[in-house]
Amino acid sequence: MTGGLDIACKGLSKAFGSNQVLSSLDLEIRRGETLVILGHSGSGKSVLLKHLNGLISPDAGSVMVDSTDIAQLAESALFEIRLNLGMLFQGGALFDSLTIGQNIRFPLDQHSVGTSEDREERVAELLRLVGLDGTQEQMPDELSGGMRKRAALARALALQPLGMLYDEPTTGLDPVTAHQINVLIRDTQARFGLTSVVVTHDIASATYVADRIAFLYDGKILAVGSVEEMSTSEHPTIREFLSAGPAPVKGT
Ligand SMILES: Nc1ncnc2c1ncn2[C@@H]1O[C@H](COP(=O)(O)OP(=O)(O)OP(=O)(O)O)[C@@H](O)[C@H]1O
Ligand SMILES: [Mg+2]
Repeated sequence: MTGGLDIACKGLSKAFGSNQVLSSLDLEIRRGETLVILGHSGSGKSVLLKHLNGLISPDAGSVMVDSTDIAQLAESALFEIRLNLGMLFQGGALFDSLTIGQNIRFPLDQHSVGTSEDREERVAELLRLVGLDGTQEQMPDELSGGMRKRAALARALALQPLGMLYDEPTTGLDPVTAHQINVLIRDTQARFGLTSVVVTHDIASATYVADRIAFLYDGKILAVGSVEEMSTSEHPTIREFLSAGPAPVKGT
């Protein structure tokens, strides 16, 4: 599996009632890169991410995935897009009443991938990939938070997507477990050439996984650049967010 997708948002606007969350936002995500979207809580990161696979449709603007504007697609066509664009939801979202193995097998069954034996093999392979060998028969509530995230990642990768959307993959995890997830995101991207979008307010995680960081503020992308460029940004909002303090006064 090699691949990646180009994703581009242009003039993206979305309001919920009088709450204008996105206002004519532009953002390009390059094929095969890991782009991190940073922003304050409530700034619209999850809303933006859900536009990228059509879980939310915009009031105005376009979301191009390769050459398709998915903002214009019917639900049936979006189904195809979502096959190519896996998503790790903010809460993990495993089915509590299914075993870990059944959870990961679920999309394979839903899309009738291969024979029953092929699916069993694929489940075992995915569990190995995320370091969860031997947990097939366990129930989600028997696993730690970090293990549940990994299982959810295995499920999201089951259909060999070309891109992955991660919503707060490390939030609520201890630093060691969070780092394991960061490593897994990096490895997955390197191994499969995925285009990855990671939404987070965890700066350590952003720094580790990002090829580029985009900063979402006031409904728009305030700035986008490499980790180095963002960490040396003189923009007061970005400096404050990255805890670098106010910008130095020029000439001093
Ligand atoms: N389905 C919805 N209906 C109405 N309002 C919504 C909906 N989804 C999100 N919002 C609102 O949109 C705004 C942005 O929410 P969003 O969840 O994208 O923030 P976020 O940046 O992901 O925050 P966090 O870091 O806390 O996850 C919030 O004011 C939220 O209340
Ligand atoms: Mg969110």
